[in-house]
Amino acid sequence: MPKIPSYHLFPTAETASKTLAAEIGELVSSRAAAGQSAVLGLATGSTPIPLYEELVCLHRKGLSFANVTTFNLDEYLGLERKHKESYWHFMHTHLFDHINIPPGNIYIPDGTIADENLQGHCLDFENAIVRAGGIDLQVLGIGRNGHIGFNEPGASPEVRTHVTSLNKVTIADAAESFDGPQNVPARAITMGVGTILDARRVVLLAFGGSKAGIVNRALTPGITSEVPATYLQLHDNVSFFVDTDAGAAIEASSPPE
Ligand code: PGA
Repeated sequence: MPKIPSYHLFPTAETASKTLAAEIGELVSSRAAAGQSAVLGLATGSTPIPLYEELVCLHRKGLSFANVTTFNLDEYLGLERKHKESYWHFMHTHLFDHINIPPGNIYIPDGTIADENLQGHCLDFENAIVRAGGIDLQVLGIGRNGHIGFNEPGASPEVRTHVTSLNKVTIADAAESFDGPQNVPARAITMGVGTILDARRVVLLAFGGSKAGIVNRALTPGITSEVPATYLQLHDNVSFFVDTDAGAAIEASSPPE
């Protein structure tokens, strides 16, 4: 049975991010106390930056990431790791360089893989998630076109990690950081919707008025491939953490939690 995700309205992106960081900190430390690992699915983009700042703060206050394994949602194809717009670079700059996660526990799709090896690389990525025991908590952003990861409009719900072409809205939104749409990579590797739906819990972050319309659509009954975030209605443990502006258009009949 489809289920509309719960949503939580926060006054600011910072308060939403602190709440999610505290949840992640609790997961990581309770697993460590039991001698177990915690597996996180991570996102890039401007949205999760305050979350990563807060996780770095928690680390400075004593939270260890020694028992953490991470899987990133996606990576542009054709960018070297050191390219300033690669997600490898983003994740190390904003998080991994500042915490004690073992480098061997970090999984980010490799954007430098040759075409003939891409299928095998995607399969290896999926197998690594299974070997780690599955994703405990997946962090998501949402594109203005409703994409999650790089699962663009038209994506199907059962697809696993794969190569995809970027949608024109996605390219337009990335154009400024790449100094023009012509410099935005045309393709990316992304976890599929099926991969995302296998996570035991999903928290989608959305901040700012540009996300208000799509957040409302994702929380409105009716699953459509044209808005991949509506596939989250197939999962029974999804929360949207939104700030006042991103939540401004929500018409859902259920009140915020
Ligand atoms: P943003 O991107 O965080 O830069 O808004 C979100 C997304 O496209 O998933």
